[in-house]
Amino acid sequence: MAEHPAYPVGLRLTGRRVVVLGGGQVAQRRLPALIAAGADILLVSPAATPSVEAMADAGEITWERRPYAEGDLADAWYALIATSDHEANTRASTEAERHRVWCVRSDDANAATAWTPATGHSEGVTVAILTTDTKSRDPRHTAAIRDAVVEGLRDGTLVAPHHRTRTPGVALVGGGPGDPDLITVRGRRLLAEADVVIADRLGPRDLLAELPPHVEVIDAAKIPYGRYMAQEAINNALIEHAKQGKSVVRLKGGDPFVFGRGMEEAQALAEAGIPCTVVPGISSSISVPGAAGIPVTHRGVAHEFTVVSGHVAPDDERSLVDWPSLAKLTGTLVILMGVDKIGKIAETLVAHGKPADTPVALVQEGTTAAQRRVDATLATVAETVREQEVKPPAVIVIGEVVNVGPQTSA
Ligand SMILES: C[S@@+](CC[C@H](N)C(=O)[O-])C[C@H]1O[C@@H](n2cnc3c(N)ncnc32)[C@H](O)[C@@H]1O
Repeated sequence: MAEHPAYPVGLRLTGRRVVVLGGGQVAQRRLPALIAAGADILLVSPAATPSVEAMADAGEITWERRPYAEGDLADAWYALIATSDHEANTRASTEAERHRVWCVRSDDANAATAWTPATGHSEGVTVAILTTDTKSRDPRHTAAIRDAVVEGLRDGTLVAPHHRTRTPGVALVGGGPGDPDLITVRGRRLLAEADVVIADRLGPRDLLAELPPHVEVIDAAKIPYGRYMAQEAINNALIEHAKQGKSVVRLKGGDPFVFGRGMEEAQALAEAGIPCTVVPGISSSISVPGAAGIPVTHRGVAHEFTVVSGHVAPDDERSLVDWPSLAKLTGTLVILMGVDKIGKIAETLVAHGKPADTPVALVQEGTTAAQRRVDATLATVAETVREQEVKPPAVIVIGEVVNVGPQTSA
């Protein structure tokens, strides 16, 4: 039958009956896209995998627990035939042919009247790859091409310059803790589309090196601020560049809203009438301990973690942190910006009841090639930081989770 290449088409299945025969791995892989397409799905199968069963429990599909029976395809617009019984599959596809229902067969592509392409999504389009080689359909080949196209669109190495949809205004992008691989896919795409990038010292600097030469990269710390506060000068720079019609990315370390002043920038942009897109990032508060083998929670050890800024000492009147209460918590304390003040912080925690032998780990420049972990206790941490010359940026973890991993020092 399959002498000619398949004709590609996009089925609009909203509210239309799709019959799936067999509730195994094939159904499990295909059902999410059928559900996303809004199809009215009837699964006919005596058994199903736990994931398929969960879709039925959630009401996303209707499941009849029985084998295929003649007549099941009568009302279908489309069928996926994937039982483990070849003979039943053959009977079902014969019925599909009779009712003129397009059908996919997992066990015999040549007997099918439709083929499922390898699909992926990016930038508001669906990429669907079908082979034209009707003799040897190699799913790995089509999947590899799909991956290359989708990955290229996502990381910006494959661009459609005249048609690309530019994100208007400013994108506040969380760049993750430092390793360039730890930015989100969306963040990376927006970077690739940017005309101007205003970046902090912290964050994935290596990504800036990859940007094409026409992209203007501005170091946020070096914006001359004259009569303004530094943050106001950054806000003004974002607004000015956006007003010139440029795509602006404000690249920040970690997540924009974790001690990142992201909302101040979002507010300034809103006041200036500039659209703002926020792209969350992987915060150093969780990822840096993780990269050094420290889970911020662990079953039977810590049921909570609290992230605290240590940029002002506990006795500083500007401090908003209730250190005596933190001393009473049994979970993990994660302190950012606390290297300079760790002596005072440890002293205060111990004074308010935290045991002096509570384990402490300092992870400097986490997720980068320079990552370094130094272990201490609340009693020894001030001296250890001095002796070992621990420098910012570092995440400080206080609590028993420090000792649960296989590795306790770097
Ligand atoms: C101004 S805060 C910004 C936090 C950021 N928004 C986030 O979600 O990770 C900067 C502090 O984050 C921590 N930090 C950020 N990146 C780090 C890294 N790669 N290694 C260790 N600490 C890091 C340090 O405590 C640093 O002083």
